[in-house]
Amino acid sequence: MTDQYYKKFKITSTIISSLSESLIQNDAWERNYGLDTCIISDKIWCKEPLLATLDNRFPIDFGFLIRIPPNTVYNWHLDGVRAAGVNLKLTQDTHSHTLFGEPLDDWNDKFVELEYDDNSFYLLNTQHRHCVVNFDKYRYMFSVQFAQTKEHITYQEIYEWCSLKGLFDE
Ligand SMILES: [Fe+2]
Repeated sequence: MTDQYYKKFKITSTIISSLSESLIQNDAWERNYGLDTCIISDKIWCKEPLLATLDNRFPIDFGFLIRIPPNTVYNWHLDGVRAAGVNLKLTQDTHSHTLFGEPLDDWNDKFVELEYDDNSFYLLNTQHRHCVVNFDKYRYMFSVQFAQTKEHITYQEIYEWCSLKGLFDE
């Protein structure tokens, strides 16, 4: 069971996936939490039916891209402010792994992998230990930051609501 780590949504991407080539070509990258990020206009992401639905119940502060360079590991961490994220992988032909870990001892983690399907959104528990291993190409991910930070909302609360509304892929 991987639901405590991540869950795939039923509604797929319509606009962001189709614009991905142009979205990643921009010069607005900033450094945040050791990652290259850039904000995506809400005029774009609010056209995604799934994100519009989520935004109604859990206001989205902003949508953004995350860029990880080739041959890089973004180490085990919990996100700084986010309880949860909604992710969509933009580069489909790249080799990378997103892992959620359970420490076994001081040296080892047992992990499960989130394998992104093309054009699919996932809810991620960003307050559970996770990391990314990226291989030989730049990896681009679309993600969102909810207005409510980890002090005010949990992954479980968002998960429960989405589940109740039938938003998840079975
Ligand atoms: Fe993270």
